[in-house]
Amino acid sequence: MGTPAHRKLSAATAAQRAAELRQQLHEHNHRYYVLDAPAIPDSEYDRLLRELQELETAHPQLRTADSPTHRVGAPPREDLVPVRHRQPMQSLDNCFDDVELRNFDRRVREGLGREAVEYSAEPKIDGLAISLTYERGVLVLGATRGDGETGEDVTDNLRTLGAIPLRLGGAGKQWPAVIEIRGEVYMPRPGFERMNRALEQRGEKTFVNPRNAAAGALRQLDPAVTASRPLAFLAYAMGRVEGFALPKTHAAVLEQLRRWNLPVSELIETVSGVEGCQRYYEKIGARRVTLDFDIDGVVYKLNELAGREELGSVARAPRWAIAHKYPAEEALTVLENVEFQVGRTGTLTPVARLKPVFVGGVTVSNATLHNMDEIGRLEVRIGDEVVVRRAGDVIPSVARLHAPGSQRKKITMPARCPVCGGKVEREEGEVAARCTNGLSCRAQLLGSLLHFVSRRALDIEGLGDKLLAQLVDREVVSSPADIFRLTAETLSGLERMAAKSAANVIAAIEASKATTFERFLYALGIRDVGETTARELARHFGSLEALMEAAAADVDTTHAGKEKDRCPTLRQVPDVGPVVAAFICHFFSEIRNQKVIAQLRASGVHWPAPKESAGGVLSGKTFVLTGALPGMSRDEAGALIEANGGKTSGSVSKKTDYVLAGADAGSKLAKAEKLGVAVIDLDGLKKLIGQAGLSSAS
Ligand code: IVH
Repeated sequence: MGTPAHRKLSAATAAQRAAELRQQLHEHNHRYYVLDAPAIPDSEYDRLLRELQELETAHPQLRTADSPTHRVGAPPREDLVPVRHRQPMQSLDNCFDDVELRNFDRRVREGLGREAVEYSAEPKIDGLAISLTYERGVLVLGATRGDGETGEDVTDNLRTLGAIPLRLGGAGKQWPAVIEIRGEVYMPRPGFERMNRALEQRGEKTFVNPRNAAAGALRQLDPAVTASRPLAFLAYAMGRVEGFALPKTHAAVLEQLRRWNLPVSELIETVSGVEGCQRYYEKIGARRVTLDFDIDGVVYKLNELAGREELGSVARAPRWAIAHKYPAEEALTVLENVEFQVGRTGTLTPVARLKPVFVGGVTVSNATLHNMDEIGRLEVRIGDEVVVRRAGDVIPSVARLHAPGSQRKKITMPARCPVCGGKVEREEGEVAARCTNGLSCRAQLLGSLLHFVSRRALDIEGLGDKLLAQLVDREVVSSPADIFRLTAETLSGLERMAAKSAANVIAAIEASKATTFERFLYALGIRDVGETTARELARHFGSLEALMEAAAADVDTTHAGKEKDRCPTLRQVPDVGPVVAAFICHFFSEIRNQKVIAQLRASGVHWPAPKESAGGVLSGKTFVLTGALPGMSRDEAGALIEANGGKTSGSVSKKTDYVLAGADAGSKLAKAEKLGVAVIDLDGLKKLIGQAGLSSAS
C-alpha cells in the first residue's frame, strides 16, 4: 500500500478506507493505553498508521481532527495561545487532620440538611489539571488550567498522549454536542526516572520531580517533544456539557467517562461519611509508596450532583469537595556542609550534611545532591536554607534553595579524591567526576569488594562492610581473590569476631565458590555491566574464555571513529551498546584483572557448563517480567520460561516478544504499551506453554 496506489484510489474509496483505518487505530490505541490488552503487534499498528498517513498525504482533505496520525506530533508552534475557560477550573480547599475533615463533612450535611452523605474518594494526583473539549465525540480543544480562568491551548501536545482518546468511544448517538472533560496529566515515576537518566547521560538538564517534568512536557512548543515524554492521563470530572443529560451521581459520571474510553483511576471508590473517608485515607496512604505516580493527598467529592448545585462555591473552591493532604515529605533545614562520597567506580557524589530535620516520618541529616550540575541548577551554597525532600523510600535529596544564608560558601568539586588523594577527572560529556586511582583508592576497593560479595553477586553472607573495611585497612584483602585466602585464624583476630562467627564466614566463602557464570560476571563489577547485561553476556558466550576472546578481538576498535565500527563482536549481544562494549574490552585487557580472574578460578570458584537451551515451545521468544505475579516469584517464572526454551531479559525493547505483567507493574508495562509489545499475565504464560501440550514442570 504505497502512495502511488492511494493516488489511484477514487476519492470515495480513499475516504472509506481512511475511516476504516481510523476506526481500527482508535480501537487498538484504546486497547494499548486504557485496557492494557493489545491485540496486535507493534509492527502491525505501525503499518496501519503508515497507511493512513500516506492516504492523508495523498488526499489532504481526509485529515480529520481525530486522526490517529496526530499522535506523532504536529509541527512546532511559535507560542502557546491563551484560552478562556467557559467554566472556570476551580481548585480545592485542603484539610490536614480529622478535625478539619469532620468540619467539612458537617458543613456539607448541614448545608443539605442531611444526616449522612456519600463521597467519591479519589487519589489526588500530583500533576497538572487539564480540560478536554469534545464536539460530537471528537477532541477539538485541550487546555491547561492556567489561573483557572484562562489557560493555554495545548491541543496538539495533548493529542500525542496515547491515553487521551481523539474520539470518544461508544456509539455516536450517546455523544453530547459539546462536552468538556477534566482530569490530570502526570508523569509516572518510573518513566520520570528513566527520562532523567537519559537526560543525564546526554549531559542535559534533569527535572526535579515528576510534576515539573510533566508541566515542561505539556507546555512544549513542539508536539513531537511532548510525544517523546512518558506522560499519562486520568479523567476525574465533566465540565461544560451540552446536549447530554448528566447522570445523577459522580460515580455514574465516572462510569460514563469509562464507556467513552477515557481512563479513570481504578483507585476511586464511593465511601460513606467521615468514617469511610478516613478508611480510604489510611488505605491509600499505606499504598502511597507503591503507586507509580506521586500523590499529595486524597480528594473527597460529594457523590450526589444535585447537592453540589445546592452547596455552590466559596472563592475559587467548591464547598462540596476537599483535598485531604498527607504529611509533607518536604522540610526546611540548613545546608551545613557538603562532602564527597566515592563509589566503587570512583564516582564522586556530593552529599549534603544537613541540620537534622523530620521529613515524612524520619529524621534526615544527609541528602544527596546528585552531581555538580545539579548543584549548579539548584544554585545552593553551604550555609543556605534548603528544602529537603523524601519521595517514597528513595534517598532524601535537596529539592531546592529556600533562602540564601547570610554567610555562603561556594561548593566546589575537589581536585583530589577525598579518600585516597588521587587525581579527580571529569570525562568529556560525562556528568560525573571520578577518582582516577582505580582499586588503589580505598573507597573504590572497598566498594568493589562489597559489590563482589553482595547478595546478587557471589552472595557471601557475613562478610559485611565493617569486616571488609578492617580487612582492607590491615591490608589483608586488596582484591576479590584475597577473600578466598582468608582463614578462620585471620578473622578471629579482628574486632568483634568470635571463633564461631569466623567459622561461619569461612564456610560462607567456601560455599560461594559454586556459583553461576552470570553471577561471576556481575560480581566482577565491570562498569555498566548490571545483572541483565551479565546474563546476556553469559548466555551469548557460554564461557569466560569465549567472552575474553571476543573482548580481545574487539579491543582495538573501541576508539574507532564511527560508532558503528566499535566492538562488532561484543555488540552482537542484546543489551550491549558501544559504550558498555568498550568498558568490557578495557576491563579484560587489564593485566591486573586477568590475574585476579585466574586467581579466583585457581582457588576453586566455578560454575556449571552452559546448558543447551534448544527446543521448547518458547524457543526464540524473549520475555520481560514485571510486577508481582500471583503465587510465583519472578525468578520462578523466569526459570519456567527458560525451562521451556524461552529467554528472559531485564528491559523492554522492540525485540521483546512478551511482557509478563503482574500486579503493580510500572515502567516496563508502560514501555511495552508504547512499543506495542504483547502483554500477558501468568495465566497467559501457562496457556502459551500448555497449548503445545508441554508440562510446566521440567
Ligand atoms: S477535582 C473543583 N480531583 O488538584 C474540583 N482535582 O487543588 C477541581 N487534582 O487543579 C479538581 N487529583 O490539578 C480533582 N481526583 C482529583 C484530583 C485533582 C488531582 C488536582 C487538580 C486540581 C488541584 C486542586
